[in-house]
Amino acid sequence: MLSAIRTAVRPTTLLARNVASMGMRSKHTLPDLPYAYNALEPYICEEIMKLHHSKHHQTYVNGLNAAEEAYASASTPKERIALQPALKFNGGGHINHTLFWKNLAPASAEGGKLADGPLKQAIERDFGSVEAMKKELNTKTAAIQGSGWGWLGYNKSTGKLEVVTTANQDPLISHVPLIGIDIWEHAFYLQYKNVKPDYLNAIWNVINFKEAEARFLEAQS
Ligand SMILES: [Fe+2]
Repeated sequence: MLSAIRTAVRPTTLLARNVASMGMRSKHTLPDLPYAYNALEPYICEEIMKLHHSKHHQTYVNGLNAAEEAYASASTPKERIALQPALKFNGGGHINHTLFWKNLAPASAEGGKLADGPLKQAIERDFGSVEAMKKELNTKTAAIQGSGWGWLGYNKSTGKLEVVTTANQDPLISHVPLIGIDIWEHAFYLQYKNVKPDYLNAIWNVINFKEAEARFLEAQS
């Protein structure tokens, strides 16, 4: 009797569980840019922004969704381990680019302007000056071999701001990211060719310091 009930109930229960888990695993989507594709000109041109956002970032989103789906249906630890590089690469790409769009702002909308406040004071305390911080971030970012990201990060264990870099699409885990600079060629090559320092100097004109300060304050709360 009991086994008959079990047989009758089990398929329904399993189906309900599957539907619930599918519902909980919502798909990642490409976030809208908070400004127009041409809004960062002349520092970052419209063509770069359009391709970078609608093609490159979209590819990471698609790759992350595919990797998560494959992970959910993998039945052995070996299969799940084999999917980890794809999860890290595409997941990191999605996380990093989502941060990146928000840490840029048109020069006409206060991009590049760092008002006096907690962030500016912390930068001056930890680097000596804002210019010294920019120089260190540019130098270390330009020195990355291959593709990667340069970061102004907040070190929670020391309470200090530090410049750090990550390779490929590795997200910043050791620090809270305040400003991230994409040094993949897709981020600058169409406009700046191989001259990384020109791209790195130009991008400071469209850095959203208000966003960076908000992340800084949130990291300390
Ligand atoms: Fe990128």
